[in-house]
Amino acid sequence: MNNSLDRSRLELLLQQEEELFHKNHPKSYALYQRARKSLHGGVPMLWMIRWAGSFPVFVNEAKGAHFTDVDGNKYIDFCLGDTGAMTGHSPDATIHAIDEQIQKGITLMLPYEDVIWVGEELQRRFQLPYWQFALTATDANRFALRMARLIKQRPKVLVFNYCYHGSVDETFITLDEEGTPMARANNLGPQVDPLLTTKVIEFNDIAALETALSAQDVAAVLAEPVMTNIGIIHPDPGFHGALRELTRKYGTYLIIDATHTISAGPGGYTAAHRLQPDFLTVGKPLAGGVPAAVYGFTEEVSQQFAARLDADEADVGGIGGTLAGNALSIAAMKATLQNVLTDDFYQKAIALQECFTEGVEAVIKEFELPWIVKQLGNRSEYWFRPTSPRNGGEAFAAIDHELDRYMHLFALNRGILMTPFHNMALISPDTTQDDVDYHTKVFREAVQSLFQ
Ligand SMILES: Cc1ncc(COP(=O)(O)O)c(C=O)c1O
Repeated sequence: MNNSLDRSRLELLLQQEEELFHKNHPKSYALYQRARKSLHGGVPMLWMIRWAGSFPVFVNEAKGAHFTDVDGNKYIDFCLGDTGAMTGHSPDATIHAIDEQIQKGITLMLPYEDVIWVGEELQRRFQLPYWQFALTATDANRFALRMARLIKQRPKVLVFNYCYHGSVDETFITLDEEGTPMARANNLGPQVDPLLTTKVIEFNDIAALETALSAQDVAAVLAEPVMTNIGIIHPDPGFHGALRELTRKYGTYLIIDATHTISAGPGGYTAAHRLQPDFLTVGKPLAGGVPAAVYGFTEEVSQQFAARLDADEADVGGIGGTLAGNALSIAAMKATLQNVLTDDFYQKAIALQECFTEGVEAVIKEFELPWIVKQLGNRSEYWFRPTSPRNGGEAFAAIDHELDRYMHLFALNRGILMTPFHNMALISPDTTQDDVDYHTKVFREAVQSLFQ
């Protein structure tokens, strides 16, 4: 079996897929041309220029695990809004709650009783006593970092190499090949050099963690418990124990960002593995796709924060958001937590994700590819390297943009949407066994086209 990648063949195949994409998406292309006259880059949000085709697919309608585009093409959606629609598109229970709430007020800067139900449910799921609301996971992280710095009176935060926590200024820092920290490539217009605000080390590197924390200038470590944005990177056995022990030893808060690792179960990886963070942040799917995020913290954090907050200036302290905690998001969050992101959903979705993973694994084995597939609950991802990376640096080194683009475009042309920027797939409550089997078939065809 020849499993080495022929680059000129890849280039040719990519060109063919691009032609097919153009042929099958004339209306999307026409809309894109029109959009370019009013939207920067022809898209409403910068990242949408990075889809595999040379223009984005315009959506007609989405429901559950599927959507159709304006050209009438049908898709199975494994991207699911990069977790924002992990609930499936427009889940019935969430829509019903939105319909009701919309008649009763959308945003007031005053609470409705339902918000208490949500707070209590978050307590139950994530085992932290106090909660606040934001509109995006980015904001939840930013606010948790501000609280941590305020309480600890320390200037720095620590993150792991090639993490992603949203557009949080302090996190755009990486290690170069010699292990020296530097601003992340393409860090757009930073307020300050992240070297001034942040320490960065590799995931799973306990010795580096101790060295970084021992200077006692780090207010908080901000971490995903399993890295998900540079491939899925699981912690080594004992890593989380050491992370918690060392953060406590050196008086540093631990902020767990559960936005993607919520895929591990109803309380995310944190509850499943009984981690004990000082803060937990999560956003994206909580309200079925309506903007909503939360951050929770311990009794100790709550007391320390209250002691330092000047209530008369609470609105201009850098933590907030006029629409945060709005009635519509809260109603959607209550309905979604109560009816969609349930124990039953996770049980079924994780079982189906195992089928997805096994399907990809079987193809990798059949073609003897030096690739791996990793799973975290209802999330799987394949990566172009033969062994599991232990950290972001190792994972980053295996990125192959051209191959990525080909795999994505091949899938898209055959009615499958994968998460852009990496080869990630999520299972929603509406994804079926047939959807998964179809992915396995298309993935095999893509591989066959490259290595036959
Ligand atoms: C782990 C993690 N945290 C936070 C965010 C930010 O989410 P949002 O863009 O909704 O603010 C992301 C986005 O991908 C993420 O992956």
